[in-house]
Amino acid sequence: MMWPGDGPWPASAAGPVTAAALLAAAVIIVRLFFVPRLQPSSGTKRRGAESGASGSARLPAGSLGWPLLGETPAFILAAYSARPESFVERRRLLYGKVFATHLWGSPAVVSSDPEVSRAVLQADASAFVPWYPRSLMELMGRSSILVLGGGLQRRVHGLAGAFFKSPHLKARVTADMHRRVARAMAAWRRPGAAPVVRVQDEAKSIVFEILVRALIGLDEGHEMQYLRQQFKEFIAGLISLPVKLPGTQLYRSLKAKKRMTNLIQKIIQEKRKRRIAECEDPHGTHHPPRDMIDVLLGNGSDELTDELISDNMIDFMIPAEDSVPVLITLAVKYLSECPQALQQLEEENMELKRRKSGVGETLEWTDYMSLTFTQHVITETLRMGNIINGIMRKAVRDVEVRGHLIPKGWRVLVYFRAVHLDAAVHDDPHAFNPWRWNKERADVMTGGGFTPFGGGQRLCPGLDLARLEASIFLHHLVTNFRWVAEEDAVVNFPTVRLRRGMPIAVTPRT
Ligand code: HEM
Repeated sequence: MMWPGDGPWPASAAGPVTAAALLAAAVIIVRLFFVPRLQPSSGTKRRGAESGASGSARLPAGSLGWPLLGETPAFILAAYSARPESFVERRRLLYGKVFATHLWGSPAVVSSDPEVSRAVLQADASAFVPWYPRSLMELMGRSSILVLGGGLQRRVHGLAGAFFKSPHLKARVTADMHRRVARAMAAWRRPGAAPVVRVQDEAKSIVFEILVRALIGLDEGHEMQYLRQQFKEFIAGLISLPVKLPGTQLYRSLKAKKRMTNLIQKIIQEKRKRRIAECEDPHGTHHPPRDMIDVLLGNGSDELTDELISDNMIDFMIPAEDSVPVLITLAVKYLSECPQALQQLEEENMELKRRKSGVGETLEWTDYMSLTFTQHVITETLRMGNIINGIMRKAVRDVEVRGHLIPKGWRVLVYFRAVHLDAAVHDDPHAFNPWRWNKERADVMTGGGFTPFGGGQRLCPGLDLARLEASIFLHHLVTNFRWVAEEDAVVNFPTVRLRRGMPIAVTPRT
């Protein structure tokens, strides 16, 4: 994820015009006569990030760009264009797949090299820690899994991963999705002209309700509506100027977070009371965890305080409101533009529907996950769509990664997008081609060439769930409707989304 508004932006333009003009002139002169260009430094003995490795590490070549601003303006300009990866591609031609730059107020190394990216993802907190913009850190809080390191991060990650992967949860999510998708789609069957549906909005409200139920056990109703409203206000501040004065977005978002925290902590306290009552009742039955809060409470660790649990439940809602719905929306867009893929997807899903209804069975989560072509469509959407463009880390010491020196305090941008769209890794990378995944691509999968869910210790614990929810939505869409898509465009910055929310005119299949 890339964010504006955090680096040392130029001081406010409120100063006298003459001062501004002088400053601009000074910047131009500095730019003309002094553009810090980094040549690879001569080899220095450094400690290695890779276990036990040490050797001659070189600072990658590159340019630190403008004084103060660095290369952030060029990065943002590219990010707003149709080819955000052009920033990296241009520098890759000049300096190589790993280069130095200056982004968001700090010198940084950018990796578009699969092996270097993989090594950074796999390094632990003794080498790199996550880095996020100030506004995001402020909203997340210190106990967020996104910023936690060491044993506590591993514990929360492990508990979340085990819960999200559990067959019990997947079965429940599948049943919930069936009910919720059927209700949404029933509303699309109005007689008369084909209704226009915005896939992004529909997917957001469905996925949010399903994931919030899995996280905190809240059912549909007015508290769910309240939470969603507050969450929308909260998420708007994640990418905002780091100023928290009344009237600013960050201030409103912090207030919204407080209201969400109150609601979630009330739920936690009720659950704690119920657990105590169950333990004291000699005839009481033991229930398996119904939601993520149950899992964290059941761990019995004093470190998992109410505050840590509620903060993390809010963080976990971000993929529910953002990443998964965007995955679904992008898949619909790419399928609309590739009739051959849409036809094969329809055939695969119609065949499953016929087979199951023929014997009077309902669809299980395993049925969806075993749809080979549907999974290829999702994999290809993740590759092309780059819902998370990349992640940033900060070096806590001088680190050597495959011969590259990343000095202490520098950021590393592991830029997934440039690897996913690199012709050296994926043939004809800008073409939507789900069939490319027919071939066994173990080298790409394990070698850092395909990392939409990150990797290493922070590999996304919700990856199966994301695929499952996308598969269920697509199944119900293609087996119940045909559609004509309206024109829409992908926006990549500051987060990936469809400009118009992907409007499609749907007609029920007869
Ligand atoms: C298309 C959907 C999704 C995408 C593309 C995605 C992508 C990612 C990526 C790239 C990371 C790694 C971040 C890093 O290394 O710093 C990550 C971490 C994470 N994801 Fe997802 N994710 C998705 C869905 C989900 C879902 C459904 C959940 C569960 C509710 C989830 C929960 C998390 C959590 C808790 C982490 C932090 C793990 C840690 O730092 O230990 N994600 N995700």
